[in-house]
Amino acid sequence: MGDGWKDKIIFGDCQKMTELEDNSIHLVVTSPPYFNAPFDYPGLFESYDRFLMLIRNMARGLHRVIDEGRIAALVVDDTLINGEKYPVVADVTKVFMEEGFKYREKIIWVKPEGYIRIGRRSGGLLQHPNSICIFCYSDCPPIYISS
Ligand SMILES: C[S@@+](CC[C@H](N)C(=O)[O-])C[C@H]1O[C@@H](n2cnc3c(N)ncnc32)[C@H](O)[C@@H]1O
Repeated sequence: MGDGWKDKIIFGDCQKMTELEDNSIHLVVTSPPYFNAPFDYPGLFESYDRFLMLIRNMARGLHRVIDEGRIAALVVDDTLINGEKYPVVADVTKVFMEEGFKYREKIIWVKPEGYIRIGRRSGGLLQHPNSICIFCYSDCPPIYISS
């Protein structure tokens, strides 16, 4: 970090991101709300389509703010609600590609034992392991993932 570096926390809506300039971001790592996941977000979205609309608005905004060749990594996974399984990973991937990103990689995040044991959240119980999908703006360099 150079002398001029300043951290900045912005409380805003990921569907707009008006605070951020075009092509100004070099890396995005984000965990969007899981669609109506039990414990964490029950009833947050009125429908699955509304959830996908948030993802689309976010993808469109990210495509504007991310710089050429840079990466967005999303922690997402399919969600089971009242016996119905929602194909979140496939749908989020499709939306990101429709909004101009290239689908680059999917990695599986195997959470540590302690986290799974103490986690009452759906993130700990239902979404283990968890997918992390990596998208890039046009061509990006190869991605190396250490084990
Ligand atoms: C799965 S959590 C991830 C939280 C945190 N990043 C982490 O990794 O622990 C999703 C977060 O998105 C926030 N959120 C929901 N709707 C949002 C929106 N429209 N814009 C920005 N954040 C939102 C929720 O409040 C929640 O904190």
